[in-house]
Amino acid sequence: MVVYEIAAQSFQDSNGDGQGDLAGLLQRIDYLTWLGVGAVWLTPIYNSPNHDFGYDIADFCSVDPRFGSLEDFDKLLLALHDSGIRLILDLVPNHTSDQHAWFGESRASRNNPKADWYLSAEAGANGGPPNNWLSRFGGSAWEWCEERRQFYYHSFLPSQPDLNWRNPEVREAIAATMRFWLERGVDGFRVDASAVLIKDDLLRDNPPDPEANDEKPPPQARRPVFTDDRPEAMRCIEYIREVLDQHDGKLLCGEVQGKTDRIGHFYGNSKPRLHLPLNFALLDSEWNAISLQATIDAYFNALPQGAWPDFVIGGHDKHRVASKVGQSQARVVAMLLMTIRGTPFLFAGDEIGSEQVPIPPDRVQDPFEKLVKGFDLGRDPERAPLRWDDTEGGGFTSGEPWLPLSRDRARNIKAHQGDRNSLLNLYRELIALRREEPCLLRGEYLPRRAQNDIFSFGRRMNDTEILVGLNISGEPRLWEWDGCGIRLLSTGPDCKQEKVAGSIHLKPNEGVIVKVIR
Ligand code: GLC
Repeated sequence: MVVYEIAAQSFQDSNGDGQGDLAGLLQRIDYLTWLGVGAVWLTPIYNSPNHDFGYDIADFCSVDPRFGSLEDFDKLLLALHDSGIRLILDLVPNHTSDQHAWFGESRASRNNPKADWYLSAEAGANGGPPNNWLSRFGGSAWEWCEERRQFYYHSFLPSQPDLNWRNPEVREAIAATMRFWLERGVDGFRVDASAVLIKDDLLRDNPPDPEANDEKPPPQARRPVFTDDRPEAMRCIEYIREVLDQHDGKLLCGEVQGKTDRIGHFYGNSKPRLHLPLNFALLDSEWNAISLQATIDAYFNALPQGAWPDFVIGGHDKHRVASKVGQSQARVVAMLLMTIRGTPFLFAGDEIGSEQVPIPPDRVQDPFEKLVKGFDLGRDPERAPLRWDDTEGGGFTSGEPWLPLSRDRARNIKAHQGDRNSLLNLYRELIALRREEPCLLRGEYLPRRAQNDIFSFGRRMNDTEILVGLNISGEPRLWEWDGCGIRLLSTGPDCKQEKVAGSIHLKPNEGVIVKVIR
């Protein structure tokens, strides 16, 4: 199942206010069906003052009016299901907006019924923050609350206070919001910031990061030993999974922080945690055959026995892959993503090779960019609205878009649909091939030795063996292998299926898929 991430705000506007909405998304279901995606993951659509792209939620069981209503949501869900597409929502259990009623109550005094729903602490020795913990978005992670004469903790913005997951009432309250959506029929969740749900109860200071230097953003000056990936955070994920499992056939994926070698823990041991901890290793890897070979091997090595892999090549927090590797290699990325063992995740726009859109300083929206300047951390360039056609509003809106659209007007969905050699049509063919060849879906992964700038691997299921050879360079390369087979697909133009025997001359930036004949 291919998972397609949609940020509703950037997908399709239906009312000319410059922001995408649920009614707009509904109009585009035919496109999703045409492309062949199996599931949509929708970033937050809930009521929010929108200081952090909707990840600051003021009411978990609502739809923000700028996206529509609960009725629009139900209509959308029904239409997706009718088209055989599942819907996964973002679940943000770590924090709320400071506009949430829970926080309003909690912050008012030290002894109200919700006083312990968020993380509060006494001032440090000099009246400053309780310890040296840093917010991801810059500065201390502690904010003074005058009413309580205490500090409260925020992993992200001061307007995103962290919930206290040690409090059983908080767990139950989040479980209730999950049930609200599960009973409406959603097919699962992507858990936001799952690794930071619990912070050290002794409030121990984080140590300096020995690798920190002036080139690294200030929030990375300390190693987040006592704030991230605590053992008790794993218990919280297990709890979320238990709630999910009370409904049949639902999926839990999740954002996990840290290095690839920690990813295995997020699957769970005796108790299950996430089905799919999201794996960004491809996006973080150097783009050459030797590095890819190592990145992918390290990831597979980190997986527990029986764990199902996944690969993510785009997201609302990550720079666009096409900007990283270039348009020619974007075709190779497509082939790698759709043929390697694991569930593929892509972000709307990746299928046409959307690139980072330059945002003029006066139009910057992302708080990360505003607060931690000079480190290319801004996420607006990847969040720019999708271009459906080459008109001024890009077919996205008839109004003023909330972020500028790409100036590269030719790179749009309509144009790509009409060009049989486009990246979009390559994605579509690859997705169709995954369906036709169960070996590509479920076959085991057979590593091969990267050589000559070619990253290659095999997939095997019963008697079927499929080989994939990807030329990671911009020059012609010889891909050496023995045997013969049928070339099912190439990233090159006008590819026809044909018989191949032995070594194959790969064109610059070419990838091929070969079904071995025994
Ligand atoms: C997650 C989201 C990111 C957001 C942050 C705070 O990392 O993916 O977009 O800024 O959580 O909620």
